[in-house]
Amino acid sequence: MREHDLYERFETSYDDADTMRRKGKRSRSNRAADDGEPTRRGRMTEEEKVRVARVREDQLSSADTPEDGDRWSTWGDAEQGPKPHPSWLITELAAVDRELGIVKTGKEADVFLLERAMGEKACLLAAKRYRSNDHRMFHRDAGYLEGRRMKKSRETRAIANRTAFGRNLIAEQWTVAEFAALSKLWQIGAPVPYPVQRSGTELLLEFIGDDEGNAAPRLAQTRPDEDELLDLWRQLVAALMTLSEAGITHGDLSAYNLMVHDGRLVMIDLPQVVDLVANPRGVEFLDRDVRNICGWFASKGLPPEIGDPSALVTTLLDVAGMS
Ligand SMILES: Nc1ncnc2c1ncn2[C@@H]1O[C@H](COP(=O)(O)OP(=O)(O)OP(=O)(O)O)[C@@H](O)[C@H]1O
Ligand SMILES: [Mg+2]
Repeated sequence: MREHDLYERFETSYDDADTMRRKGKRSRSNRAADDGEPTRRGRMTEEEKVRVARVREDQLSSADTPEDGDRWSTWGDAEQGPKPHPSWLITELAAVDRELGIVKTGKEADVFLLERAMGEKACLLAAKRYRSNDHRMFHRDAGYLEGRRMKKSRETRAIANRTAFGRNLIAEQWTVAEFAALSKLWQIGAPVPYPVQRSGTELLLEFIGDDEGNAAPRLAQTRPDEDELLDLWRQLVAALMTLSEAGITHGDLSAYNLMVHDGRLVMIDLPQVVDLVANPRGVEFLDRDVRNICGWFASKGLPPEIGDPSALVTTLLDVAGMS
């Protein structure tokens, strides 16, 4: 029995039996005789309320939670990633999601390991869930979100006043922004995790790591030898060129927001991606990104004539058509 059927039964017990007959529906007494539901008019007793609540809970837990997972796949209700969807992705609506553990608790979001399975087939996903109580995020918000026009003044006020509702809206806006950035970058061939879906403050991403669920290390955790370092540098320059061609820079680039999976560099954490032209501080952000990451490569021994930040900034501005 579905939940609304249950309520309908109680509601109909208040209705006038004649009206019901005129409408061609079964009368209260017929119904009661059929299935033993209450026939009394008026409010539910406390006992009845408890019973309804219990039945409802049972229905929710049996109908809304799959036996072999934590929830049904949320794919059908979410904003979905760009097409064509990768072949490894499970898109069946009857699939189930199971949370396998936490990958990392961050300052702005927590990342969980999720398995989405359909029968024998399964894929691993990273679930990045934005928090709504973070302080660093509020600093980053200041110029970025409050300058935007918002449709509803109630939402604008909630954000300005940092109410729980407002904080949740901010978190959701970061999620929307990161999903949009990843979708765009994926489509232009930048090395980013495939953005599977977004709903509310949760982002599901391609899991960067092995089949056992071990996340790949961040660049900062790696100890590349000379050849590996040069190879990573080349991948970085190629990735930055792709971004510049699209007129954007990461906005928070560091050796912590790059992962290395089987020798392949993957860029992550992109909610604050900066438009080089539209943002008055675009070039400044590009310069900061490049200097940050060049600093890491220099500290690992990349020769200065290769990893020269000024030369790279010039090249990137050139590629962006801004020199
Ligand atoms: N797609 C992914 N696959 C595997 N691991 C991931 C993925 N995305 C993020 N992670 C892991 O989660 C960590 C946090 O992700 P991210 O940087 O996007 O969030 P954050 O809230 O900004 O965290 P932090 O404050 O640590 O920078 C990453 O450093 C990485 O270890
Ligand atoms: Mg990060």
